[in-house]
Amino acid sequence: MVQLFILLVANCQPQLSYNGLTTAIEWDNYSFFILGNRTFIQSGEFHMWRLPVPSLWRDIIQKAKAAGLNTISVYFHWGLINPRPGEVDLTGINDYQPFFDAAKEEGIWVIARPGPYINSETSTGGIPGHVAWIPGDPPWNLYNGELRSNDTFYHAAWQDYWTGVISLISKNQVTNGGPVILLQIENEYYNGPGQNQYVDQLRQRAIQLGVVIPTFVNDAGEFDNLVNDTDLYGFDAYPLSASGCGNANPAIWPAIPTTWRAYFDATVPGKPHFFPEFQGGSADNWGSTGGYANCRELVGYNFQRVFYHQMWADGATAENFYMFYGGTTWSQLPYSQGYTSYDYGAPITAKYGELKLQSLFLRSFTDFYMTDLIKTDTTTVPNVFITQLQNPLSKSSFYIFRPNSVATTNTTINFQYNIGQANTLVPQNGASLTLLGRDSFVIATDLSFGTSKLQYSTASLLTFLELDGSDLLVVYGYTGMPYEMAFELSGAVTQIITGPTQVTGKATNGTYILNFSPSTGVTLVNLTTPSGQDIAVLIADYNAATQIWQPTIAGRGNFVNYVGMSASTPLIVSGLYLVRNASLDEQNLALWGDVGENTKIEIFGPSVIASLTWNNDLVQTLTQTGTGTWQAIIPFSTPLVSLPDLESATWRYRDSLPEIQPDFDGFAMVPANQTTTTSVFPPYYGEPWILYADQYGFHAGNLVWRGTFMHNSSTTAPTAINISSSGAVNYAASVWLNTNYLGASDTRARTNNNTFPVSDESLIDGENTVVVLQDHMGGDLSGQDMCCTPGGRARDLQQPRGLQGYYLGGLYGERAGWHLPGYDDSLWEERTPFQGIAQPGVGFFRTTFQLDLPENYDIPLSFVFDSTIGHYRSQLYVNGWQMGKRIANIGPQTAFPVHEGILDYHGINTVVLSLWALGNGTADRAIPSFKLVANGTYAGGIQGISTNNPDWTELRGNFGVPL
Ligand SMILES: *[C@@H]1O[C@H](CO)[C@@H](O)[C@H](O)[C@H]1NC(C)=O
Ligand SMILES: *[C@@H]1O[C@H](CO)[C@@H](O)[C@H](O)[C@H]1NC(C)=O
Ligand SMILES: *[C@@H]1O[C@H](CO)[C@@H](O)[C@H](O)[C@H]1NC(C)=O
Ligand SMILES: *[C@@H]1O[C@H](CO)[C@@H](O)[C@H](O)[C@H]1NC(C)=O
Repeated sequence: MVQLFILLVANCQPQLSYNGLTTAIEWDNYSFFILGNRTFIQSGEFHMWRLPVPSLWRDIIQKAKAAGLNTISVYFHWGLINPRPGEVDLTGINDYQPFFDAAKEEGIWVIARPGPYINSETSTGGIPGHVAWIPGDPPWNLYNGELRSNDTFYHAAWQDYWTGVISLISKNQVTNGGPVILLQIENEYYNGPGQNQYVDQLRQRAIQLGVVIPTFVNDAGEFDNLVNDTDLYGFDAYPLSASGCGNANPAIWPAIPTTWRAYFDATVPGKPHFFPEFQGGSADNWGSTGGYANCRELVGYNFQRVFYHQMWADGATAENFYMFYGGTTWSQLPYSQGYTSYDYGAPITAKYGELKLQSLFLRSFTDFYMTDLIKTDTTTVPNVFITQLQNPLSKSSFYIFRPNSVATTNTTINFQYNIGQANTLVPQNGASLTLLGRDSFVIATDLSFGTSKLQYSTASLLTFLELDGSDLLVVYGYTGMPYEMAFELSGAVTQIITGPTQVTGKATNGTYILNFSPSTGVTLVNLTTPSGQDIAVLIADYNAATQIWQPTIAGRGNFVNYVGMSASTPLIVSGLYLVRNASLDEQNLALWGDVGENTKIEIFGPSVIASLTWNNDLVQTLTQTGTGTWQAIIPFSTPLVSLPDLESATWRYRDSLPEIQPDFDGFAMVPANQTTTTSVFPPYYGEPWILYADQYGFHAGNLVWRGTFMHNSSTTAPTAINISSSGAVNYAASVWLNTNYLGASDTRARTNNNTFPVSDESLIDGENTVVVLQDHMGGDLSGQDMCCTPGGRARDLQQPRGLQGYYLGGLYGERAGWHLPGYDDSLWEERTPFQGIAQPGVGFFRTTFQLDLPENYDIPLSFVFDSTIGHYRSQLYVNGWQMGKRIANIGPQTAFPVHEGILDYHGINTVVLSLWALGNGTADRAIPSFKLVANGTYAGGIQGISTNNPDWTELRGNFGVPL
């Protein structure tokens, strides 16, 4: 008996685990505890380096918080922070302290993921070029450098970066008053002889540098990798596949995985079911046909409902959606398959509403943080997969319904089902539960909210709050579909309905049952009893529900804005485009947010409210309704937005390929004269020179090779030039002999071996010049072996015998700083990119324009190229930042968003286009059209965005030192 008693106590008060360094973050087999409070970690991924305007980071944080998330997960980029050996740069766009500060102020936790390797569709997974090319020769690996192992050279290579980035993270840990709760070590990595030791070395060094929060690894799948090497373990799940979604058929879904719970239970017993990356969208590749619009449809809101609910069914209590906000992989940061936009079909642009519905539910109903699996039932209702979870303490249950097979089923299923402690067959009124073909819903039973008790609701729960003594429960459902709710409520119930939805109520034996089919909008149902036991229900149709906001009100003490710590959530606002923040001082409710039209809102909140401000302006239209709510009109006035017409602008032009001229002076090129290499990819021919760009410190961008050879017309003339060039898939190369264009290599293969015939007339008696222009396209990502995919790092480029030396550089225009604001182009020829260039080659086109956009509006802008196919490549530079790369024969990206902060919305902007024509047709030598367009106009936004753009002089200081 005594033993049994102890067992029961142990069951009710589970033993918490921690990592031996701090109890600030603990866990049991159900979920995490943050500062002693059981938490469901609901997180979204964001990369500050993909939004290189620090004053906009708060915008993303506020949007995550408004969506009901409590955490943001961030990758750090080794290559950006440690671009050269010995240099650690945590300033400017790499200064992440403002991000941590903003996260703390807004009330969002942070999961730090500094790699060192991050993958993330960025060149070499973030590993800087100088590290990717280190020598090394470990016995267990055929390849040089053995990156991501305990290799001696590699070990030395990560020290500076790790010390810098971990010191910053360490300072911002929750134990130091900051927002950081977890630290991921490495990424998607594997067990291996030197690999486990490497992960341990990273972790130990982090602890030396002051890290006390738990560390974890993120396995690339259910692969049992590195399971016990850190404190915690999680794995990626991309059920619809993570790349190339622009070509996928949105109508085809694979089967839903059903292994997640069993895998976690077997692999990390006693630890929370943690998904450090769950599919939030998908990456797209060069050449896709559908682009991100297709990705957003494939990984759409119905995917969120079906697959995220399944993750809950498998016991997940920590989930991070990759990405929440994708951003821009600007400059040469993309890997070889990725184009500039990293939109990712991420929820911040679409799907935001569904994410918010789920997140507010999770934030509000804490019984869900601790549940046991009671049953999965695939037989009672044909074709329906039902999971019952139950909180062992409160006995509230959550039934998750979805179609058994989403791959093939797209039919509506109507049924009834027995639920709850009372085993009630619902709906009791004889109607049906309706499960749409690709949908899922959750029914909660036996759930307390405030001082009230819900017996069950077939409508989805959104949130609840206490409203002047009565409990307000917010629910939603699809328009016209029947729902039923039952409350414990005794005595004579008076029911008052305000709003468009017809609601019937019925009292039986201490239970009060509501039946309704939502109409468009929100409907308030007030249930009052003589005993003063009052319940209010707010019913919203699905779309109206996505317009409901529940901002937090700061409390006192530490972590003032965190839900679960000091913040409270005493009100909801219905009808707005975005509510970022709120405060309640005395009798004034202050709201901050964005609107794009005159908007009628309704506020459900404490009765003390007497006035309302919106973005600091008093709202005159506030009125209180008979039911105690407030209504107001949030005004919007359409501002004058005047954008320049770039097609009639003055552009200045200069040729950017002087290297093909015989008298070229070699400006800013480096000699490519090395004769040995540690590369495992031997040059094919052309000894003795090693013509691998990385070997000379060129790890990205356009590469110009210039070589000369002597020819004597009295000897046999060469008849052809053989070029073997490599640049990773999607690269291209162009070849000139003495100003004559020999042609292009552009097959989308990794390497091209070409023979270009040479005519006698094109040869010069004396010194002849060969120029090859190629692009590098960025490093590859690790393959299955997570290290050194053969060919992945080779950039061989060999020239014909007889070459007498080679010089290497980037585009002339970049070497000379023509892409930078402040460069004096006044003497350049006036010519537009629409006129283009006369023959295959490279031209630079510059223009400037003034912007003077209205203050206090968020007006996203994009530069848009024509979608016409042409054989050219063009890079877009905005105020010195390379914000786009268009490949007009591969695509798909034509629109390049550029944020305020890169663009100066109140000043002069410099826009530069490089045009590399690979073909000789009209469509290859000119850009058909190029426009600046607005993608919306919202009053609100983030104010005080500072611009911090490079100027011409500044970068000249670094000139000649390759990255
Ligand atoms: C790396 O780890 C392997 C496997 O444990 C070991 O054999 C090797 O000696 C280690 N190398 C270094 C440089 O520590
Ligand atoms: C990890 O540790 C747990 C607990 O000690 C153990 O049950 C499990 O087998 C270990 N897993 C691996 C893959 O080493
Ligand atoms: C499933 O059916 C709905 C409703 O008829 C339709 O809108 C949707 O396109 C269908 N989806 C697929 C993948 O067939
Ligand atoms: C934990 O969260 C609950 C629910 O939000 C709250 O009532 C409680 O005060 C919190 N506990 C601590 C220690 O902050």
